Amino acid sequence: MRPTLIFFFVLFSVVCCCAQETFRAEPVQIGENLKLVAPHDNSVVVQSRIWLILKGELPRDDVLFNGKPLKWDRHFGGDTHVGVLGMEIGQQSLQIGGKELHFVLGRNDKDHAGDPSWNVYRLHNMKPGPNPCARCHETVKNEEDGLIRVGELMTPADACYKCHISEKLDEQHQATKLEENWRENCRDCHFIHASPHDHLLRQPRETYLK
Ligand code: HEC
Ligand code: HEC
Ligand code: HEC
Repeated sequence: MRPTLIFFFVLFSVVCCCAQETFRAEPVQIGENLKLVAPHDNSVVVQSRIWLILKGELPRDDVLFNGKPLKWDRHFGGDTHVGVLGMEIGQQSLQIGGKELHFVLGRNDKDHAGDPSWNVYRLHNMKPGPNPCARCHETVKNEEDGLIRVGELMTPADACYKCHISEKLDEQHQATKLEENWRENCRDCHFIHASPHDHLLRQPRETYLK
């Protein structure tokens, strides 16, 4: 190969490898039997306390937050692992087994020390309390260990409509292209735990409009 060709080949590879794709509005498979629901790699967080949610097989000692063992929320058992990440402004690192994730707590979505390509990590408001998950998920207290098992998502009628008023939702979706059964399928378009898009959408807003 001619030297100039080699130069462009190397440049091309470097650009491709370093361009960081924004995170997607869905859980991330980070091990054979382990899913990370929230938070996500390469993102800008604007709340100083957020939930870490993992589902699957996990030696809990294997999780380090900014180099220190994570303090787990002891209310939860089974295969759902939950902890609160309390942060100070700046870079954050989360080590889960062999994987290392990076994100940053910013003062706001513009004023932060992260990579300029990083997207803001948006999430549904979740009031603290012993079981904030019960607002949307089936949850049961295990009789043997007394710990909460977080199960399936409830139907929108049992979860979302507890707080979101039907008429207001109609208004909020006036510009959206909707199927007849959209009221039963909020999750088709929204991901409540982690989205890089406005309104906690799975894809950018424009893609859903009429
Ligand atoms: C405001 C509603 C809401 C609250 C509150 C909530 N979730 Fe969720 N959760 C969802 C939705 C919606 C999904 C997406 C399900 C899908 O699209 O597959 C989900 C998905 C999940 C999943 C992934 C399930 C899977 O197998 O992919 C886990 C695990 C989870 N939630 C755990 C929790 C935990 C733990 C809490 C409490 C700390 C919690 N959730 C609070 C709405 C909620
Ligand atoms: C415990 C009450 C409660 C439940 C349950 C709940 N929400 Fe919400 N939701 C709120 C509040 C409060 C807000 C913020 C005010 C608003 O935008 O209406 C909000 C905001 C939102 C937003 C806009 C967020 C943003 O950043 O723009 C979406 C989308 C949403 N909710 C979807 C859902 C879906 C889907 C469910 C069911 C899986 C759900 N919510 C369940 C109370 C709730
Ligand atoms: C077909 C996709 C789609 C479905 C299904 C859907 N939404 Fe939305 N939702 C959107 C879009 C797009 C927007 C932004 C609308 C706009 O800005 O005009 C939105 C906006 C919202 C907002 C207002 C957010 C804000 O910041 O003001 C709430 C709340 C909301 N959705 C909740 C729900 C709930 C609850 C359900 C299920 C009952 C649902 N959505 C089903 C696409 C959808």
